Amino acid sequence: MSDPKKIHIEDVYKVYDGRAVLDNVDLCVSAGEFCALVGPSGCGKSTLLRLILGQEQPSRGSVLIEGQAAGFPDPRRGIVFQRYSLYPHLTVLDNVLLGRRLAQPWSWLPWSKPRPDDRDEAMDLLERVRLGDAAAKFPHELSGGMQQRVAIAQALIMKPPVLLMDEPFGALDPDTREDLQVFLLELWERERLTMFFVTHDLEEACFLGTRLLVLSQYYTDARGADAPRGGKIVADYRLSPTGTATAVKRRDEFKNFIHELRETGFDPAIRRHVKDFDLEHPDSFQTLTAEEYRRDGEKSAGNP
Ligand SMILES: Nc1ncnc2c1ncn2[C@@H]1O[C@H](COP(=O)(O)OP(=O)(O)OP(=O)(O)O)[C@@H](O)[C@H]1O
Ligand SMILES: [Mg+2]
Repeated sequence: MSDPKKIHIEDVYKVYDGRAVLDNVDLCVSAGEFCALVGPSGCGKSTLLRLILGQEQPSRGSVLIEGQAAGFPDPRRGIVFQRYSLYPHLTVLDNVLLGRRLAQPWSWLPWSKPRPDDRDEAMDLLERVRLGDAAAKFPHELSGGMQQRVAIAQALIMKPPVLLMDEPFGALDPDTREDLQVFLLELWERERLTMFFVTHDLEEACFLGTRLLVLSQYYTDARGADAPRGGKIVADYRLSPTGTATAVKRRDEFKNFIHELRETGFDPAIRRHVKDFDLEHPDSFQTLTAEEYRRDGEKSAGNP
């Protein structure tokens, strides 16, 4: 029976060179959710995305897409990276057509031409990302924001129900970034995509996501404070939709929420003392009490 959950990650570990990078990750994502994934550098965000993409396989546990093993990359998922997804020697149109052409037999023959239907669809997509006029240009002739819109069209042409994005706006200036955030929300609403969006920008995560996932390697559990451990999901917030007006970011409510998040989850001094997150209570971090904090400190001092 097919699993109604779009993505089901169960008990996943990923080990590189004998070191756990992901440490018991459990996650269920429904169709149409916009998951914004944040967390300290090196906690395994990109690794988790690669597991969902099928570019990497879990060392233990399972990654299911609608009940089927994630396996290897296929059109069920598309991905957009921070940069470098475009081929510099191909025009914008040919870059968008690439996935379709590679799926055709004989696509490697130099005289093979795109099918007219594919071409129309690619042009239609370029119109949707507001780049209809740039079809014949080469990537170096476009701004960073335009290139990222081409990369989004390139991923969308295979009609993936799940779109994975790894810091896609990280290299853009603030205005372009804001513009693309609104663009992405509109696209997500229209195409009913299930999104996985990695960012280092908490504001961006809270603005875009219907769900905020915090992956972190900084948590304490029965293994003791200094045991090596990989990243796991330490917080899972449901966010109410903010709408697509970026003005919402300037509201006090929004600013206060961001401030609270930073205080509780991201201050390094505090996050080292975050207790194992209890998934029964997905709305809060469970920080140590002052007494537990003191005892923890004494323990560490006694066992250097
Ligand atoms: N192919 C690999 N071989 C060995 N180690 C790897 C490999 N890929 C990732 N790692 C290690 O796994 C850890 C997590 O890497 P990952 O790129 O997933 O982190 P991240 O959360 O995306 O970090 P950042 O925010 O800096 O992008 C890092 O310590 C990294 O060095
Ligand atoms: Mg990364």
